[in-house]
Amino acid sequence: MHKLKADKRVKKKAGAVWYRRKRVKGLLFLILLVGLFFLVNWVMLSRLQEQDVRLQEQDNKGVNSSTGFSGNMSSPRIAVQQGKRKSSRRKWPKGNYGRLLALAAHALAEGENKPEPKDLWQEPVIASSAWKPCADQRNWEPSKRNDGYIMVTANGGMNQQRVAVCNAVVLARLLNSTLVVPKFLYSSVWKDVSQFSDIYQEEHFINYMTPDIHIVKELPDNLRSLDLEAIGSVVTDADIIKEAKPSFYLKNILPILIKNKVVHLLGFGNRLAFDPLSFELQRLRCRCNFHALRFVPKIQEAGALLLQRLRQQEGYPGPLDKHLVGPFAKSTMKENRARSAKSSRYLSLHLRFEIDMVAHSLCEFGGGEEERKELKAYRAVHFPALSLLQKTTKLPSPAELRLEGLCPLTPEEAVLMLAALGFKRKTKVFVAGSQIYGGSSRLNALTSLYPNLVTKEKLLSSTELEPFMNFSSQLAALDFIGCTAADAFAMTDSGSQLSSLVSGYRIYYGGGRMPTIRPNKRRLSSIFTKNNTIEWRIFEIRVRKAVRQTKHVLKRPKGRSVYRYPRCNECMCRTG
Ligand SMILES: *[C@@H]1O[C@H](CO)[C@@H](O)[C@H](O)[C@H]1NC(C)=O
Ligand SMILES: *[C@@H]1O[C@H](CO)[C@@H](O)[C@H](O)[C@H]1NC(C)=O
Ligand SMILES: *[C@@H]1O[C@H](CO)[C@@H](O)[C@H](O)[C@H]1NC(C)=O
Ligand SMILES: *[C@@H]1O[C@H](CO)[C@@H](O)[C@H](O)[C@H]1NC(C)=O
Ligand SMILES: *[C@@H]1O[C@H](CO)[C@@H](O)[C@H](O)[C@H]1NC(C)=O
Repeated sequence: MHKLKADKRVKKKAGAVWYRRKRVKGLLFLILLVGLFFLVNWVMLSRLQEQDVRLQEQDNKGVNSSTGFSGNMSSPRIAVQQGKRKSSRRKWPKGNYGRLLALAAHALAEGENKPEPKDLWQEPVIASSAWKPCADQRNWEPSKRNDGYIMVTANGGMNQQRVAVCNAVVLARLLNSTLVVPKFLYSSVWKDVSQFSDIYQEEHFINYMTPDIHIVKELPDNLRSLDLEAIGSVVTDADIIKEAKPSFYLKNILPILIKNKVVHLLGFGNRLAFDPLSFELQRLRCRCNFHALRFVPKIQEAGALLLQRLRQQEGYPGPLDKHLVGPFAKSTMKENRARSAKSSRYLSLHLRFEIDMVAHSLCEFGGGEEERKELKAYRAVHFPALSLLQKTTKLPSPAELRLEGLCPLTPEEAVLMLAALGFKRKTKVFVAGSQIYGGSSRLNALTSLYPNLVTKEKLLSSTELEPFMNFSSQLAALDFIGCTAADAFAMTDSGSQLSSLVSGYRIYYGGGRMPTIRPNKRRLSSIFTKNNTIEWRIFEIRVRKAVRQTKHVLKRPKGRSVYRYPRCNECMCRTG
């Protein structure tokens, strides 16, 4: 999705081209190329999200549960792919950032006693605190007619499934039908058998949604015995366009429902448009995401432990804790609240730098020929269409992609950004994201600048993690909790589903006090290209400016996700 945005930017740029006639030819050529690239890539990208699981599955094949999540308390290691072990031992050139990293280390050492920038841990409070959660307000009766049963088996990781669940709730209401508690697609490689009730409190979900739709746990017996495939009641993602409008469902799905009394939606990744949708249906969507989905006690308890340790035992519960970990959000607060609040705060960082993302971007990340070969081989296996395109078409070069801000931030870039923003060396940083490309050595830049960097594997003992070990979705839930509850959250890729849901949650419940750092990668890349000459002070000023500009308090833009941008009248109410 972020690439599509970039595509729009490219189009916008076309307007400016007329001012620069001299360069018009070259620029137009580039724009055409980029345009073509993303047009063809559109299909692939939309499939990337759906296939995310599969990609990562294949990606995970090499992973050994023992190397995957070691729970080794003595090393802050993030999971390293088995296959990547060789590369993790090799010394990574730090993406040409050696000089900047040294400057950053120096600045952090010097800045130990300086005050942090005022707005570092803040949102523009006045504007953002005017929005209050109100998706729990209902303005309708439960639907009366019942046209049949909707079953959903959602694919993707935990976060994509969450979106599918709430879209299914809306669809059930739209079609006046009964929803069977959603199922999650089992993937043979991830071996995560988690179902809805392993992640979310099923009773709460059913009870909370009952005034809106009928929900049952299982299909009635007479329907269960049907061969759904044979009677044409199984509808896969190939049958539904991406972000389909309600009219599509009324025209194509309702007739099946009326005829067979049951429809089974298989996959259902991003299959319902955000606009146009009636006010109440949109609100229902938010109600589901923000109110009806509570993690099960097992996850809440481990999540609470994670938060407690992140806040160094003396923590106060953050404003979001009770929504995330429920009754486990106990206060261990001491008398002096202001002081303990400050000393226990932490920053969370979602490093979306897994190999699928890295390979798909077509960018280069300072790993030289070895990296180029490795990513090429990965693409050949996992993104054959992209590989083919690369052979037959002249695509934008890695340098051009970088300039357009289309490359995921590397761990080095992420840490340079944090240092430039003014986060102190002693800041506690919680890192989510499991399989960093390049492995633990790639994280050295992070840990050398921020020694208090932790992951869930470091915070929880192997005994505490064990019940989650073979359940990637449940592990993802712990990352979700760690990121969402943080006093500040930094994302490195705006296209990631986890980052998107986390930032939305922080907006909805954060009361205008839970800042999210969303780098403008295009602007950052132009700053990073000066890596060999720029002074630290100037670097700092420019990075701060580039990040501050994304901190605007925006109303949800049309067509964009309500899960991510809940500041809209359907989900939140504006006061004052
Ligand atoms: C996992 O590790 C064990 C030994 O630690 C090894 O025998 C096995 O082959 C590994 N599995 C994979 C899939 O790499
Ligand atoms: C934990 O990590 C340390 C240092 O990396 C290593 O020496 C130790 O053997 C590890 N322990 C386990 C149980 O993996
Ligand atoms: C659902 O029921 C409502 C009234 O309860 C009706 O207005 C609406 O048209 C129905 N929708 C469908 C798809 O049957
Ligand atoms: C995870 O699954 C593997 C086999 O699939 C099993 O051998 C192992 O004991 C499981 N681990 C846990 C912690 O349940
Ligand atoms: C660092 O600067 C050099 C020359 O100034 C440039 O070629 C290189 O691309 C830059 N590195 C990155 C990762 O931007």
